[in-house]
Amino acid sequence: MPLLASLVVEPRILSIGHRGASGLTPENTKIAFFKALDLGADAIEFDVQLTRDEVVIVFHDETLDRTTDGAGRVADTDFATVRDLDAGSWFGTAFAKIEVPTLTEVLQALGKRCLINIELKPDERGELLAKHVVTEVARFDLFDSIVFSSFDIDSLSAMRRMVPGVRLGVVFAEGGEDRAMSAARRLEAESVNPEARLVDDQLIAKAHGWGFAVWAWTANDRKEIERLCNIGVDGIFSDYPDRVVAARP
Ligand code: G3P
Ligand code: MG
Repeated sequence: MPLLASLVVEPRILSIGHRGASGLTPENTKIAFFKALDLGADAIEFDVQLTRDEVVIVFHDETLDRTTDGAGRVADTDFATVRDLDAGSWFGTAFAKIEVPTLTEVLQALGKRCLINIELKPDERGELLAKHVVTEVARFDLFDSIVFSSFDIDSLSAMRRMVPGVRLGVVFAEGGEDRAMSAARRLEAESVNPEARLVDDQLIAKAHGWGFAVWAWTANDRKEIERLCNIGVDGIFSDYPDRVVAARP
């Protein structure tokens, strides 16, 4: 098992800010990440993609429409265009003109202040995205404090090939458990990251039996957070990371 068998024995349940504190601030922006840290998050999760001209940006959707004043596919848009977009007004007027950050900017801002979970959201250029991400993380010497995750097993395999000691998490939703568990074994992942409603005693026993931590996404409801804490998850992604901090034992 690479570096991270450690997460399974993490002394407390990790509070992971999902796209930052995205319940209170515009998701995947620097302000959302700082807010998550203010609220006591141990870790920050964000999504990365490539623009058409191969800049790694921190962004969730395949298209720009929902969270910016732009439109169209990220993969078809040059960074100069993305840079001019307003990624805050959709959330609230107080956040007008907030930029879509690059991976470089976010790594520079967060440094080693917390554990970082970079979720790879590849288009058809998965290998290229992984390569650019590795270059950036190497530049800031942050491999020890980053866990790379993805629904896309090929992207995780590319990361493992490029940096053998890298920390990996396999993300899955309904119907994806068997595939995720076998990929996690093959890739010697550190965690499996299931959709929260799929997590029960059985799933946790199986994952822990293989030595994987269980990080559940995304729980915002206090009762659901308590349920997850009571059955033994190792980390909870929340848009309100303070709720995890308040609920965990
Ligand atoms: O990595 C956990 C979670 O972020 C996966 O779903 O769609 O919010 O990126 P999504
Ligand atoms: Mg994500």
